[in-house]
Amino acid sequence: MDTRSMMPLFLEDYLAMSATRDGRLRPVAQTIAEMAKAAAVVQAAIASARIPQHAEANPDRVNATGDAQKALDVFADESFLAAAKASPVFCYGSEEQDAPVVLGKGSLALAIDPLDGSSNIDTNVSVGTIFSLLPALDEHREDPVRMYCQPGTRQLAAGIFIYGPQLLLVVTLGLGTKTFIYLPERAGFALLRTSASVPEDAAEYSINASNRRHWPAHVRRYIEDAEAGRDGPRRRNFGMRYVGSLVAETYRILQRGGVFLYPSDRRDGYGSGRLRQVYEANPIAFCIEQAGGAATNGTTRILDLVPETLHARTPLVFGSKGEVETFAGYIGKQTI
Ligand code: F6P
Repeated sequence: MDTRSMMPLFLEDYLAMSATRDGRLRPVAQTIAEMAKAAAVVQAAIASARIPQHAEANPDRVNATGDAQKALDVFADESFLAAAKASPVFCYGSEEQDAPVVLGKGSLALAIDPLDGSSNIDTNVSVGTIFSLLPALDEHREDPVRMYCQPGTRQLAAGIFIYGPQLLLVVTLGLGTKTFIYLPERAGFALLRTSASVPEDAAEYSINASNRRHWPAHVRRYIEDAEAGRDGPRRRNFGMRYVGSLVAETYRILQRGGVFLYPSDRRDGYGSGRLRQVYEANPIAFCIEQAGGAATNGTTRILDLVPETLHARTPLVFGSKGEVETFAGYIGKQTI
């Protein structure tokens, strides 16, 4: 996109157009616009190192899912909570909070990982904010945790702000996946890619191979077959990429295809993998599916799973449709 030679489509205009087309999206549009302002503030804090990147918020503090909580995690959480308060959001369910924060108004339930990948932030790799917007159902207003136990198919919108060399927003309102780039000189997000589209076949896989000894047999076999390349049963060579930052892996896959795997494994606490269903797997699966890719826990489409809690985990395999299907085929060959 050459922003000097043509008038870019700004996020606000895109959101307004979506809300005009479907009035039910009006609160969604309002909320994403508020979150976009918060993302620019978070990006500025990361870029300026104003908040020490390695600093633990409290050395004894881990978040609801057991990760050490850094000062930047807390800053991002507070920034997006403020955005939610300025939006038609009934409750705010965050990785950084044990329980949903009830804001008491609005028709939406926001689920969010305010700063995913923050354990890597001092290495200057891309990190991000992952979010999901669900309808706030009247029957669960007294018990907001239940609000987050809706399957991902009910999401009204989902997205990822990526804090990297560029500040990007990958977003879906259920009509394809769009990518916006933040233009500091315009203090706004402009459309970068009209329609993301994940290539059907993959030439790259992404997995933390240091866990190989803990993997179930079907994962080991799938990776071994990929590693065998042209000489093996897959009859093609694969490359391997692993950043250790989910938003960076997701954007790479949106750009050039591939498959990401975080399976369950035998380590204590990893029986359902590592990643969180409500505010990591569901929004990523929605963006990936809307871009023509696929996401599964191995046996079931991610978006069809019904989460048991706000912080539930799920095995997650997503990316190029053909490769996700190939992986699922290995489960049939499982021997353990
Ligand atoms: O959920 C946090 C996260 O940092 C993700 O961004 C990333 O995909 C994953 O954890 C990395 O986990 P591991 O260090 O076990 O490979």
